[in-house]
Amino acid sequence: MPRGLFALRHSAALRYIPGSERVKVSQIAPAFTSDSQADDRPTALGPTNKKWRLLRAYLSRNPIWCAWQVTYKCNYRCGFCHYWRDPMGALPEQTVEMFEEGAEKLAQLGTLMISIAGGEPMLRPDFPDIVRAIGRWHFPFVTTHGGFVTRDLAEELFSAGLWGASISIDYADPARHNKSRGIPDAFQQAVRAIEHFSRARKHSWQRVNLMCVLLHDNIDQVEELIKIAADYDAYFMIQPYSIRKTGSKRFRYIKGDVSERLLGLRRKHRNFLSNPSFLGNFDQFLAGGVPDCRAGQAFFNIDSCGDVAICVEERHRPVANLYRQSAREVVRRLRERSEGNTCVDCWYNCRGEVESLYKPVGLLKSLPTILLDHGRPKN
Ligand SMILES: C[S@@+](CC[C@H](N)C(=O)[O-])C[C@H]1O[C@@H](n2cnc3c(N)ncnc32)[C@H](O)[C@@H]1O
Ligand code: SF4
Ligand code: SF4
Repeated sequence: MPRGLFALRHSAALRYIPGSERVKVSQIAPAFTSDSQADDRPTALGPTNKKWRLLRAYLSRNPIWCAWQVTYKCNYRCGFCHYWRDPMGALPEQTVEMFEEGAEKLAQLGTLMISIAGGEPMLRPDFPDIVRAIGRWHFPFVTTHGGFVTRDLAEELFSAGLWGASISIDYADPARHNKSRGIPDAFQQAVRAIEHFSRARKHSWQRVNLMCVLLHDNIDQVEELIKIAADYDAYFMIQPYSIRKTGSKRFRYIKGDVSERLLGLRRKHRNFLSNPSFLGNFDQFLAGGVPDCRAGQAFFNIDSCGDVAICVEERHRPVANLYRQSAREVVRRLRERSEGNTCVDCWYNCRGEVESLYKPVGLLKSLPTILLDHGRPKN
């Protein structure tokens, strides 16, 4: 089906029309124990309940990670990411009511780790409501450039159930970060955002990350970035540049092996969170690609119109729409599309970290942070 057709069909109303495929989670998920509120919406599942339901999704071989795009609009002008000029930014976006319906439907698969992404997600004034809707059932976290974060907003988001916030900084040198993002004080705003989020945490499971893209010219910046994160009791994570967002090879790191260097930094700095098995594959990715992508099996993408694809880069080839197909049908179609996938174009955090969970060593390294409420790096 041509890209956007699902969306166009749906966008005429811009509201989810309940269909016959919709099944109440309470009918099929006995682990759900919350009561109804005065407004008849379920209260949020507790963290322990969510962890059990996440484990169940994992053991049932259902996807456990979803990137859910809330907008493709962006007010920054990064050279290594062209979302700010993506025509999808002009399409109608899901409403909060749709996020409520969609999150409840996805909960039939279990509790998922949901990366609320974009574009710049915080461009949406209803962003806290989106977090609340997703956080009722799932673990929501956000990646942001940080430009809109105030202390009040950070508190509101953590109160709404945000599990974690990642703020993107790629250079410890402010001038270089600002130049790369095309905004004069992008660095200062991002650091302030880390500080706001860090101070606004309410629960031991809420985490803050500094998120870096490994580019052609910033490997020398990485250790300083880890230290900046540590100053704010935040973790550090990194993913390599992929050409799929721009079509350009210009930003690819090509200066030699990097895995051992990053693993060395991870051994040195306790707040370097990226899974070692993910970091261990950076060299293979940069030398040509990591095979056996689990997109569509372990993780998938929902675009800003509700169309579902195996990953964000495949959003132009959706397999279903969250508001039209049942959760089981969505999973069936994702599995079908993932068969024989030979793509090696990215080694994004979402792909690498999730795939680590399917290897014994990677699973052992990630479990403590997922299960034991390690929202802050240990000293
Ligand atoms: C697409 S952005 C959306 C969220 C937000 N606008 C931001 O910049 O944090 C999500 C993450 O992908 C990173 N990113 C952007 N372009 C990339 C590329 N070509 N390869 C790898 N990561 C990229 C961003 O730096 C950010 O950490
Ligand atoms: S990386 Fe984020 S801030 Fe930069 S253009 Fe892409 S979406 Fe916008
Ligand atoms: S390797 Fe290809 S299919 Fe797999 S997540 Fe990356 S871009 Fe998507």
